Amino acid sequence: MKRTVVVMGALLLSASAVMAQQEIAVQQDNLMRGLARNLYGVISKTVKGDTPYDQASVDAAIVQLEEGVGKIATTFATNPKEDVKDATYGSSQKIWQNKADFDSKIPPVVKAIADVKGKIKDVASLKVAYDTINDRCNGCHETYRVKLK
Ligand code: HEC
Repeated sequence: MKRTVVVMGALLLSASAVMAQQEIAVQQDNLMRGLARNLYGVISKTVKGDTPYDQASVDAAIVQLEEGVGKIATTFATNPKEDVKDATYGSSQKIWQNKADFDSKIPPVVKAIADVKGKIKDVASLKVAYDTINDRCNGCHETYRVKLK
């Protein structure tokens, strides 16, 4: 009886640990998807002419990018040791072998956003902003993001 309780307890514990890990991976993925909604969903589509230029949406996207990027270091503090189920992209384990280098990829994005904030007035200036910001996002992705499928 006692043995069963101990075994059950251990099973429950490991089940909740697995769930927590998946939750962490999902949080990290959600943060990235949020950045993508602003950079690709709003900004890139406007640059391409798929969406008409709207100053308020552009300004809001920049603010949300700024907020999101500010959360990367803490959101990736813990290694979930697993990928989000069915995800296209995953995290490289290198992140947690060299978290300081991973974190060092964030300030360039922050700076790129700060440099263009308040200066975007039309599609031409938005395109410059898009190219610089996207370049910095990729500065991290090329080392730390893994294509899963
Ligand atoms: C410091 C590193 C870092 C920076 C900076 C960064 N990312 Fe990521 N990104 C990652 C990692 C790691 C992954 C893979 C894990 C994941 O999806 O959560 C990822 C995944 C993604 C994905 C794929 C999500 C999916 O699963 O479909 C998108 C889209 C994305 N990032 C967009 C952006 C955009 C846009 C920016 C810039 C505004 C950005 N990222 C900046 C590290 C970074």
